[in-house]
Amino acid sequence: MSNMLTTFLYAALITPLLPSLAEAQTRPRGFHYDEAKVPKYTLPDPLAMSNGDKVTSAETWYNKRRPEILKLFETYVYGRSPGRPKEMTFEVTSIDKRALGGKAWRKEVSVYFTGQKGDAKMDILIYLPAGAKKPVPTFLGLNFWGNHSIHPDPNIALSKQWMRSRESQGIINNRATEKSRGLSASRWPIEKILERGYGVATIYCGDLDPDFHDGFQNGVHSLFYKRGQTEPAADEWGTIGAWAWGLSRAMDYLETDDDIDHRRVAVMGHSRLGKTALWAGAQDRRFALVISNNSGCGGAALSRRRFGETVKRINTSFPHWFCGNFKKFNDKEDALPVDQHMLIALIAPRPVYVASAEEDLWADPRGEFLAAKHADPVYRLLGTDGLAADKMPGIDRPVISTIAYHIRTGKHDVTEYDWQRYMDFADKHFNPRLQQQQR
Ligand code: GCU
Repeated sequence: MSNMLTTFLYAALITPLLPSLAEAQTRPRGFHYDEAKVPKYTLPDPLAMSNGDKVTSAETWYNKRRPEILKLFETYVYGRSPGRPKEMTFEVTSIDKRALGGKAWRKEVSVYFTGQKGDAKMDILIYLPAGAKKPVPTFLGLNFWGNHSIHPDPNIALSKQWMRSRESQGIINNRATEKSRGLSASRWPIEKILERGYGVATIYCGDLDPDFHDGFQNGVHSLFYKRGQTEPAADEWGTIGAWAWGLSRAMDYLETDDDIDHRRVAVMGHSRLGKTALWAGAQDRRFALVISNNSGCGGAALSRRRFGETVKRINTSFPHWFCGNFKKFNDKEDALPVDQHMLIALIAPRPVYVASAEEDLWADPRGEFLAAKHADPVYRLLGTDGLAADKMPGIDRPVISTIAYHIRTGKHDVTEYDWQRYMDFADKHFNPRLQQQQR
């Protein structure tokens, strides 16, 4: 075929298909993307006990209702997780005080879950601003493609773990190669974060559990099986539970590191890892601030709206993410004893940021906003300003109160715009005095 003919055919036949292909990826067919199709629903009241008693004091919230809601999420959504293994140890495997052209300190730390050097470990990569007054407030988050993917820095240890192949980006036969360095760098503006005085700590999620369903044989689950157990029970942790558990184990390390201000650690995550950040922040009160970036179904979005991704769809496409019991709510969202506003409420009164993207209808931006909004009564009961917006704000108009929210232009992703807002938010809550001086 001549080149001209090929060009003509491509323009005539293929090009018109391209937007719909992109759309098929971000808006799978057979789901609702229309507000008019959202069914009528009633949300469980975060401030009413299961027996109907109203919660009117902080004391009742902390002693009764919060534990009740936490238990419901454990039993029906994410599954129960074990605590910190007694034998766990840490090893600092590298330290470079002249990283990134002298701008950063880079550390790598291995966490051995059983105390034995071997595969049952995760590797934490840490960047701190060089010359900062220590200890440094730090953002902690899991990454999708290995620690070496967050920055082209050639000295980050290349992950040896399983990961989904992506040949064009250097992940061959489920293993990272040199070519995959920096592959997610646009989602981790390390230099900008360091310039603003924050540290970054990150772990590859696959160190905790590779993201495919193998009946929970790989990953950390099997370390905790009772004699004869071969998979988690219906109310025990799935993959999101294991990822969140890893964030708490990273916090165990951060508490021992004098360079890091462990009272000012923000846990952050995007998409499936945003669901994870919320669940980690809900369970572990050592996280001073929580950030959910485009976390969608099973994250910040209300399940009962069935807008975009649904409970049935997520349990079918990703049967390993949640606990076995969550599958009972496929097509039965109204029977859930919780909805995702209660996950956000578990974080109260700690600052939480929920962020959406305009084109990310699969994650239901309005459902994410509404969950944040319906957590507001709990935040107010606990003496904060909650979410300072009655209606969903316009595009690129962040609302920065104790619950913060924005919907930015663009697609499902983490952008520098998102990070700048998270740092503004952290400045406000971590450095109130600094903030006053700047005004
Ligand atoms: C899929 C999934 C979402 C998830 C997203 C991601 O789109 O359906 O629930 O948030 O992947 O993690 O990127």
